[in-house]
Amino acid sequence: MRKPLIAGNWKMHKTINEAIALATNIKKEVANLRNVEVVLCPPFTVLSHIYNVIQESDIKLGAQDVFWEKEGAYTGEISPIMLKDCGCEYVIIGHSERRQYFSETDQTINKKIKAALEIGLNPICCVGETLEEREAGKTIEVINKQLKQCLINFKVEDILGLVIAYEPVWAIGTGKNATAQQAEEVHKFIRNWFKENFSTSFSESLRILYGGSVKPTNIKELIKEEDIDGALVGGASIDAISFSQIIKNAIKNV
Ligand code: PGA
Repeated sequence: MRKPLIAGNWKMHKTINEAIALATNIKKEVANLRNVEVVLCPPFTVLSHIYNVIQESDIKLGAQDVFWEKEGAYTGEISPIMLKDCGCEYVIIGHSERRQYFSETDQTINKKIKAALEIGLNPICCVGETLEEREAGKTIEVINKQLKQCLINFKVEDILGLVIAYEPVWAIGTGKNATAQQAEEVHKFIRNWFKENFSTSFSESLRILYGGSVKPTNIKELIKEEDIDGALVGGASIDAISFSQIIKNAIKNV
């Protein structure tokens, strides 16, 4: 019922020529695939180039961050309307690297989600616990707090298009992914959280991605879980072969 979604977070990688080559190769590999949605999230500097590459394919474009104001004296920032203008349909918001290195908070994430949705961008809102929090048995408590604060003051009709990415911080870029069972436990909690706080039908349609050391091999187990609807892929998304293999392996019942 929910179409799997595989999003590639290229982070701070790829010059213009490198980015065009990568997207061209991904497009060749996944051109004829149905039953899976593919989103590329390259750096801001190549968004327009990648938009041109993915024409005449079903691949979609996303950005890695956004500011909440429409325009103004905000040196260095990029507005939702600018992302739309480049052809973006998605935007990653609240990635743990932004929380960790750039002072992103649940409050700024809330503003960014609101601004993105208002302009018709689908936010991929990231949540996840640190290793310390997991070991202290606080995973669910942390996710609950992040969801509550990131989604404060929204009604269900405001958040259509929202995607959630559960990314345990200890699994990002470490090669140590959460097991399918560990991820499913949190995904199920998230789906129920939306059921209780928004509506049953919204929670059933919500796509919840797993992120953290996803590879062509482990996606097969992850995607079998009832509440895992795809992946937000970092390191493995900047290699055309591994990313394409993840996409192929994410098609349910294949
Ligand atoms: P990773 O990154 O796949 O390299 O662990 C995931 C992410 O940061 O979204």
